[in-house]
Order: sequence, then C-alpha cells, then structure tokens
Amino acid sequence: MIEASRHWRRDGLDIGLVPTMGALHAGHLSLVAEARRENRVVIVSIFVNPIQFGAGEDYSRYPRDLERDAALLRRAGVNAIYRPAVDVMYPPGSSTRVHVSGVADPLEGAARPGHFEGVATVVTKLFAAVEPDRAYFGQKDAQQVAVVKRMTRDLDLRVEICVVPTVREPDGLALSSRNAYLGPAERKAAVCLSSALRLAAEAYSSGERRPEQLRKVLRARLDAEPLARVDYAEIVDPESFQSPGTLAVLAVRIGSTRLIDNHELTRPFQG
Ligand code: PAJ
Repeated sequence: MIEASRHWRRDGLDIGLVPTMGALHAGHLSLVAEARRENRVVIVSIFVNPIQFGAGEDYSRYPRDLERDAALLRRAGVNAIYRPAVDVMYPPGSSTRVHVSGVADPLEGAARPGHFEGVATVVTKLFAAVEPDRAYFGQKDAQQVAVVKRMTRDLDLRVEICVVPTVREPDGLALSSRNAYLGPAERKAAVCLSSALRLAAEAYSSGERRPEQLRKVLRARLDAEPLARVDYAEIVDPESFQSPGTLAVLAVRIGSTRLIDNHELTRPFQG
C-alpha cells in the first residue's frame, strides 16, 4: 500500500479512489466531486496505462499535461495524486495479467483485443496500492464498468464500485480526452452519437421495444452522417453485454478518432 493511504487508514478515514489517465475534463471532475461527497479522503491516480492500448492505438500521442491536471485537482480539493511510473507498475519480469471473460469479450473487447485485460490488470494494481473503500468510474465507459464490477466480485476485492453519470457538452457530445483530436468539421459530425442515442430513447419511450427497430433508429442517424463510420451500434444487457437488453452502446469513427457512447433506453436522454 502507498504511504499516504497507510497514514489515512491509520487515522480511520475512508478513502475514495478515482482512477484516470489524466488529460482531465469535467467528466473526471464529476467523479472527483462524487468521491468527495462520499469519502473523507480522495485520491486520484493518473497513469496512462500502456498495456490497455493496442498496437496502432494512441498510447504515445495520448494527451499528457500534468501541471494542468494537478492544478485542476488541487482546486477540486483532492488530497493526493498517485502517479506511478511505468516501470514501477510493470517492472522488468512482471508477467501476470487479470483476464475477465464473458462481459469483456464482445463489442469493445472484440474491437480492441487485450484492452480490458490491460484495464483489469491496472485497476487491480491501483486497488492494491491505494486500498480504497470506494472507487469511482464513469458510465461513459459502460463496458469498463461492467468488467470492473465483475472482476471485483470474482476476486473478492473489498472495494465498492461507484458509477457516475456521463457528463456532456451542451450539444450532447460526451466529454472525452479524445475529443481533442477532432477537427472543426469532425467536432460537428460527432454530435451524431448522442443524437442517435436520444432518438432511440425517444422511440423506446413511445413504446418501441423491438431490438432490431431500435437498432435501426441508431443506425439511420449514424449512417446519415458522412464523416462517421460505425464500428458497432447495439442494444445489450448492461451487466453481460449480450442481447437482449436496454443499454444502447455505440462505437463510431469520426475521421481517425474512435468515439464511444451509451445510454440506458429506459431513462430519458438528458444533455
Ligand atoms: P480515462 O479515460 O482517463 O477515464 C477515467 C474515468 O473518467 C473513467 O471511469 C471514465 O469512464 C470517466 N469518464 C470519462 N469521460 C467521462 C464523462 N464524459 N462523464 C463521466 N465520466 C467520464 O477510463 C480510463 O481512463 C482508464 O481505462 C482507467 C480506468 C483509468 C484504467 O487505466
């Protein structure tokens, strides 16, 4: 366990952990705010985790700005930032990986082989380092939430997984560090994800329950956007990520930037 956690634990304070890869935005800060409400101490980890990026993904160009991140977190009242070096996380010779099967296999798991193994491994190690009472994850990455919950249950990890709603731009685009890659025309086109989810939620609330019809609503809106190429647009169960279900999940390429978003169709779309 890291020294800071040991110290606060000794004083009997409860600890909330917010795992991030930095390049912080209002989505991350909403996780921090929720953690502050529920814990005496909040620790934010910043670690761009090499093993969750595939070959040809954006590991080396992933945005990094520690000074800005640190200033934002100080202002947000965070008690400590945990920022391990890559060779501390993965020293030479380290060869163990946490593999979650089932929920980690379809959709993001299929599109990004090894991604969830990288996430599950680093999250397990962050839990071991910080020993938080609660850990905070964004609904934006719905399959990541399902994988982390499954893993926490299966490995008897004593941490409560807390999920925070997706923070959006005024036009509906979910905040993401990767939005910074979008050019002006792409940024406009990117609204098709949230707009498709909104249309599907409206269809659902008007009584449409046929999965293939709801999928068509998603596809029609995405296919109408010339700059968008759909990776997947499905409606799945939020725990198993299998059909049938009521969680609409999207992965769409806008130019060379891959964006994901999701919405639980039983709820009205806000944002
Ligand atoms: P990162 O992409 O930095 O995201 C950190 C946390 O912020 C994740 O739980 C993510 O779901 C949440 N988040 C991102 N955008 C959000 C938004 N618009 N609204 C609400 N929450 C949002 O996800 C990761 O890092 C990594 O995989 C990590 C869990 C840190 C493991 O390396």
